[in-house]
Amino acid sequence: MKKIFVLFIVCSFMQNNVFAQLIHISTQENSLIFQITKHKKVVQSHYGKFLKNTQGLENMILVYNEAYPSFGNGQNDEVALLVNHDDGSMATDLFYLSHQQKKDDNIQTTVIHLKDEKKAFYVDLYFEAYANENVIEQWVTIHHNEKKEVNLSQFASSAIGFKATNYYLSHFYGSHSKEMMLSEERLTNGIKILETKRGVRTTEYENPSFMLSLDALAQENSGEVIAGALAWSGNFRFSFQVDDKARCQIISGINPFASTYYLPSGEQFETPKMILTYSDKGKNKASINLHRWAKKYNLRAGNELRPIVLNSWEGAYFKFDAVKLKSMMDGAAEMGVEVFVLDDGWFGNKYPRNNAKAGLGDWQVNQKKLPKGLDDLIDYTTSKGMRFGIWVEPEMVNPKSELAKKHPEWILQRQNNRKKLLERNQLLLDLSNPKVQDFVFNVVDNLLKKHPKIAYVKWDANRHIQNFGSTYLSAKKQSHLFINDTRGLENVLKRLEKKYASTIFQACASGGGRVDFGSMKHTHEFWASDDTDPYERLFIQWGTNHIYPPIATAAHVTKSPNHQTKRETSLKFRFDVAMAGRLGMELRPDNLDEEEVEFAKKAIALYKDIRPIVQFGDLYRLLSPYDDDGYAAINYVSRTKKDALLMVYSHTHHRRYERNFVKMQGLDPTLVYKVEEINKDSKKSHISFNNQLVSGEVLMNRGIWINLRKPLQSAIFKITETKPN
Ligand code: GLA
Repeated sequence: MKKIFVLFIVCSFMQNNVFAQLIHISTQENSLIFQITKHKKVVQSHYGKFLKNTQGLENMILVYNEAYPSFGNGQNDEVALLVNHDDGSMATDLFYLSHQQKKDDNIQTTVIHLKDEKKAFYVDLYFEAYANENVIEQWVTIHHNEKKEVNLSQFASSAIGFKATNYYLSHFYGSHSKEMMLSEERLTNGIKILETKRGVRTTEYENPSFMLSLDALAQENSGEVIAGALAWSGNFRFSFQVDDKARCQIISGINPFASTYYLPSGEQFETPKMILTYSDKGKNKASINLHRWAKKYNLRAGNELRPIVLNSWEGAYFKFDAVKLKSMMDGAAEMGVEVFVLDDGWFGNKYPRNNAKAGLGDWQVNQKKLPKGLDDLIDYTTSKGMRFGIWVEPEMVNPKSELAKKHPEWILQRQNNRKKLLERNQLLLDLSNPKVQDFVFNVVDNLLKKHPKIAYVKWDANRHIQNFGSTYLSAKKQSHLFINDTRGLENVLKRLEKKYASTIFQACASGGGRVDFGSMKHTHEFWASDDTDPYERLFIQWGTNHIYPPIATAAHVTKSPNHQTKRETSLKFRFDVAMAGRLGMELRPDNLDEEEVEFAKKAIALYKDIRPIVQFGDLYRLLSPYDDDGYAAINYVSRTKKDALLMVYSHTHHRRYERNFVKMQGLDPTLVYKVEEINKDSKKSHISFNNQLVSGEVLMNRGIWINLRKPLQSAIFKITETKPN
């Protein structure tokens, strides 16, 4: 790896006795610049707008901390690195050794080699800068040749700093069925921590992502914003330290909580990647940068259209047989669905999976429910012109299962024979154990080998790590569990990705418990939430799509009243919300009346027509559901700017304030577009100029008003470039 780097010294100055060399990491619009001081320290000089001419920067007083601050470097701030060396000493002070840069089409790779002043201890800082997408990935490798092993108790992926008058943090907290709730707050002096310690299903309560705006509260289309996300499905920790000099330092990485890592001499510890982007045009641009980057580099088959799915869960739950499933398939096929997914409940014989109490771990088809096996269902699905998908939760086990009896040592358990704490009646398998990794891989591999027509796998994970303890890891290395478990999962997903390149994988963890760039790299989509109420989904999808792209956001139309909230909504409203992501359904089609089936058929046909705009286009946020006005609005624009979609929702009672006046974004001001209301459920249109031509300039600058007066109403419009006669 090192050999292929071409040594490229960026620039070097000897001025005023200051030796300062700049290392310029750049994309088209972003610069991250480090300075090597005369004392051979590497410090961050700038992260923000692209600087074409860096003249003078090398002489400026340094305002930021080291590129990778370590405990023992003589400062008292938060650190990225804390090591106990082989002799027990705790100080590490890192100095510049060398650096290399190379450029490969769109990607500039930089590595900066650092070494401790006294010990044979090394840190390499890696950066990959994606020119067109304005994203910089940062990660670190730590290695040493000390006589004995060292232990690492802090090992962040990235440390970046800023200088501004104020800082505003947007982050995404939640709980089951309420994931990715947006919170925006001003950072005061001190340290704000965002983290999770839950081991699995880590994104349910706090997502490993944020947006930080400098000076003023983030606006969608103005202001300086930094967005960050850690590509890691395990525990994470971000600290935001604002000091008395109004500097803000962000340290991000794996959560070191209960995770001291022993590193033998000659071995290497690699951190996950921190994904960063900077926008000087507000939050929306930062989101677009991340979406474009993810679709190209961090999402499986990000350039392929996603099929429309009907998932059996909310329609059948655990209660089904082949007759019921086939009738669901009939209805799905009739409406134009493309993949039928059989959810939980299809496996287990000695301990049948008839509810959440038993069967997890025993991945044999339940003979009672499905005596003719899976092929009978798969063949029926394909005979209807659809593909077949299946649910698995292979990391888990119910105590009531053959697996739990056969391999109790594979189960995570608190040491000293403490009581095993159940959550959803289940326990976690120990993915730090390579044998368990093989078992988990084989669960899916065997299924796909036996039934090669399975085209889609929904991978679920329905509990956290509360029984901390592994029978595989030595007593001393129990603290590796959180990290090795996550890496174990990553290994399995990578193996499956390699072997089953065309099988679609969905990441699910009780809904949105695994929405992160770590698992996304090996999957095609995620289940954003178990809450399918379209009103709630407006908020969940709003938050989710700040960071993660709509193409990966599975959104299903379910029954009304909604099963989670009991709220009643029209079928149109449900479709209009789900169409903003990867559309699917999750109900029994024979519960729909004729009129509803007709509506669903048309909506699905319509989605097939517009999905390239939703899935490959750029998303612009126009009206936030979080504002008090009772509306939400977004628009999508294709990359050619010739096609767009406008989606407007009235979600709560707004006393006819009618603040749903929207100015579209991202269109070409020089083009003229036909504005056509689509997915209508009545003859009337919500605008006075339906099917008329309107210039991009008018749509974006003058704005338009949509006649939505009642709560839970919506309207969507297709905007198509049209040459005026
Ligand atoms: C989790 C998932 C649901 C469903 C159930 C099945 O809650 O989020 O979508 O698959 O498990 O038990």
